[in-house]
Amino acid sequence: MPSLPLGVPSDIDQYFYNRKKELISLNSLIDTLNHDVANQILVTGYRGVGKSFLLKKLIQELPDNILTAYLDISTLYGIQKGNLTEELIMRTLLEEMNNAIKDENKLQRTYKSVKKLLWNIMNSDYDFREAGSILGISIPDISDNYEKLSKFVMEYPQKIVDSSEGEVKGFVIVVDEFQFIGELESPEPFFWLFRSFTQKQDNVSYIFTRSTSTTSEVVEKINGINGAFGNRMIQFNVDPFTRKETEGYLKEKVPEIKFTNSGLERFYKCTRGYPAYINSFCNIMSADVTYDENEVIKEFYQKLEQVAVKWITMWASLSKHEKCIINTIIDNGPLKWSELLKNVDFSDRTLTNNLRKLKNKGILSHSHKIYMVDDHMLAAWLRYKKKEDGFYPS
Ligand SMILES: Nc1ncnc2c1ncn2[C@@H]1O[C@H](COP(=O)(O)OP(=O)(O)O)[C@@H](O)[C@H]1O
Ligand SMILES: [Mg+2]
Repeated sequence: MPSLPLGVPSDIDQYFYNRKKELISLNSLIDTLNHDVANQILVTGYRGVGKSFLLKKLIQELPDNILTAYLDISTLYGIQKGNLTEELIMRTLLEEMNNAIKDENKLQRTYKSVKKLLWNIMNSDYDFREAGSILGISIPDISDNYEKLSKFVMEYPQKIVDSSEGEVKGFVIVVDEFQFIGELESPEPFFWLFRSFTQKQDNVSYIFTRSTSTTSEVVEKINGINGAFGNRMIQFNVDPFTRKETEGYLKEKVPEIKFTNSGLERFYKCTRGYPAYINSFCNIMSADVTYDENEVIKEFYQKLEQVAVKWITMWASLSKHEKCIINTIIDNGPLKWSELLKNVDFSDRTLTNNLRKLKNKGILSHSHKIYMVDDHMLAAWLRYKKKEDGFYPS
């Protein structure tokens, strides 16, 4: 049986396929840092389409004079069991940024002093004087520790470029699944903070990603006319593999799996070109079968519990209310808020809260006032269970 990764693998080159055009586009947006022009980028695309892997590949291949930091907010959110704080995001961001200069000879003094600073902060000592004076960041003498920290963190990447004597031309910071910032008590000031600093920085590019369709409301919030970035962010959507790319991917990564034409067609229909679905399905397929249309269908449903194992784990992590909302939408098809409210037995406030969480997790989307389930694998598994057992899994 093949073994393709279900998460983003650490051996990028062994598993990464194609995305040549996407990489050319993104690289050209970053290349402007060499001319002191910083683009801010918003990468969208459904869950499992390959955003994180694409960005890991992008930052791995950037030239040495562009430093990079990567932060996945959904992981932070998970580790904190949903209690995400501004302070934690800022601290982790600083840690990741500082790791980027670990091997820069000329920046060792800075690296060490920021490392010490981070250690002190963990022990509630917010003294920025030493690190601040090395980098030329003046921290106001105020009692609000978060304010001090955020100012330091937001200024850090540009100051690194400025103090590198020409060796570093830019800093690229990926904030993956940024929509979890929406789970903070007041997310708006957070976006405005990024906005106010990036505006003055010529060598720092942020890449925010979010699992959603391009039309979603959260995208509007950050990049819409009234959002913090007011259309200043360049939006970049990642699409699933085309039928041809899916075929090329299979040939290159799992040549042992054999298809007839109709079998391949059906495989593409089942997986919709989402690498996450393709990998999960391939991992249960056999090299001893030549897959025609019927074999593909049979294999998919007979082994759905294995194919969907990642989604089953995710289902187990959802709350009772979140599950109820998903089941209601699967039973009735896409629904408006008022229709949903009629079909669930909890309050409008609980409904609103849980809808927001599901949207942030990239499971539901909301566009044209209608809520729908975005995650096709989850939906397929739930429908199958309902048909088999007569009820949805709890
Ligand atoms: N270009 C690619 N080549 C090979 N595998 C990919 C590619 N893009 C994504 N994958 C695989 O698909 C899965 C989902 O990708 P990921 O980047 O986590 O999606 P997203 O961040 O959009 O949710 C991962 O297991 C990853 O290894
Ligand atoms: Mg991702």
